[in-house]
Amino acid sequence: MSEEGVYTAGRAGHIRSYVLRQGRVSNAQQRYYEDMMPKIGIPYAAVPLDLDAAFGRAAPKILEIGCGMGETTAAIATAHPENDYLGLEVHTPGVGSLCKLIAEGSIPNLRVCQHDAVEVLRDMIGDGTLSGVHIFFPDPWPKARHHKRRLLQPPLVATLAAKLKPGGYLHCATDWENYAEQMLEVLSGEPALANTADGYAPRPEYRPLTKFEQRGLRLGHGVWDLVFRRK
Ligand SMILES: C[S@@+](CC[C@H](N)C(=O)[O-])C[C@H]1O[C@@H](n2cnc3c(N)ncnc32)[C@H](O)[C@@H]1O
Repeated sequence: MSEEGVYTAGRAGHIRSYVLRQGRVSNAQQRYYEDMMPKIGIPYAAVPLDLDAAFGRAAPKILEIGCGMGETTAAIATAHPENDYLGLEVHTPGVGSLCKLIAEGSIPNLRVCQHDAVEVLRDMIGDGTLSGVHIFFPDPWPKARHHKRRLLQPPLVATLAAKLKPGGYLHCATDWENYAEQMLEVLSGEPALANTADGYAPRPEYRPLTKFEQRGLRLGHGVWDLVFRRK
């Protein structure tokens, strides 16, 4: 299977925040991907998505951008059955890994869309429909000439703010200080959002520490959480 799986489609008319590498998809990831995506995958389509219909119930909807291998996504959805979670991820190995976690944990309140979040937000998510947005450890694009690829830029943040219900939250986390500073500046500059903290926020209890993060913290590296609310 190619990196761009059958559940993703299209060419971007904007600068992408990711590069689709020819990453290896393990046999297990492929098997779970093929088995689970017809059941829990939400194919991208340029038409508004009825979120309550997609989950079969009315419950708070939380969107995650960039689930990676899905451990945090699966852990949060399992710990919070009262909410519905829609995970967005472009890389097939990550989507396959998340499919495996969903199959093993039977997590009914978690769905996956394999497509560029910028387009999913633009085309599928209605204004004022989300109770929360998670963006954990987005690709840092450390070189200055690549900063334009960073996800958290003013236009995307304005879009995210519009998708939130009043009182809904946007939670970002990063272990790159320079990106944390950019996030704080961009989120503070969005008039529809208010910071819940004085600068960076304490890590909310629902966000589990990843192994990678624990190791970084032991080595003295920082992690910055930012939690803003829609006014
Ligand atoms: C550095 S990883 C972090 C993954 C995970 N959140 C974690 O904490 O381990 C960032 C992820 O975001 C995904 N990503 C980047 N831009 C994206 C976009 N525009 N739409 C969907 N996923 C995206 C990448 O494929 C990658 O898996």
